[in-house]
Amino acid sequence: MSDTDKQLRVSKIENGTVIDHVHGGQALNVLAILGIDGSGGEQVAIGMNVPSDTLATKDIVKVEGRELSQDEVDVLSLIAPDATINIVRDYEVVEKHRVDRPGTVTGVLSCPNRNCITNADEPVETRFDVLRDGVRCEFCGQIIREDIASHIDDD
Ligand code: CTP
Ligand code: ZN
Repeated sequence: MSDTDKQLRVSKIENGTVIDHVHGGQALNVLAILGIDGSGGEQVAIGMNVPSDTLATKDIVKVEGRELSQDEVDVLSLIAPDATINIVRDYEVVEKHRVDRPGTVTGVLSCPNRNCITNADEPVETRFDVLRDGVRCEFCGQIIREDIASHIDDD
């Protein structure tokens, strides 16, 4: 077998987004952040723990028919700091950008502190400061370090 025959192939997409160089094991969290669970009918291809030039192994997520918003990319940066976002149109990569860690994320995560004002029946939008190794609620100071994706407010 030639080297190319040995590689796991994830087919090219026609129009949409390829999220590349995701740290191994984070692909399902990427889907969670994008709110993709299969029920929306999107065509999605995932490669997990595939060999990479720059990371030991990487995950890759390809979403057909969807270009990500800046908000979505901001949250992705929390779990996939080295990701490359490739926008594909008519089979060609027309835009490629690295994710950028935002200073704050607003209205995306929910605070795990039950006594936090954001969990009371008040019209307060959640806001977290992005730390080097996690995020901190601006209202109560609660820090989330592990498993940020499980705190995504998906309603
Ligand atoms: N890709 C895809 N469908 C396309 C075009 C590209 O799925 N129609 C995928 C490629 O398989 C690759 C990623 O999008 O995983 C980026 O494509 P490209 O920029 O062509 O590859 P590289 O130059 O290797 O990217 P990088 O330099 O960012 O590693
Ligand atoms: Zn809080």
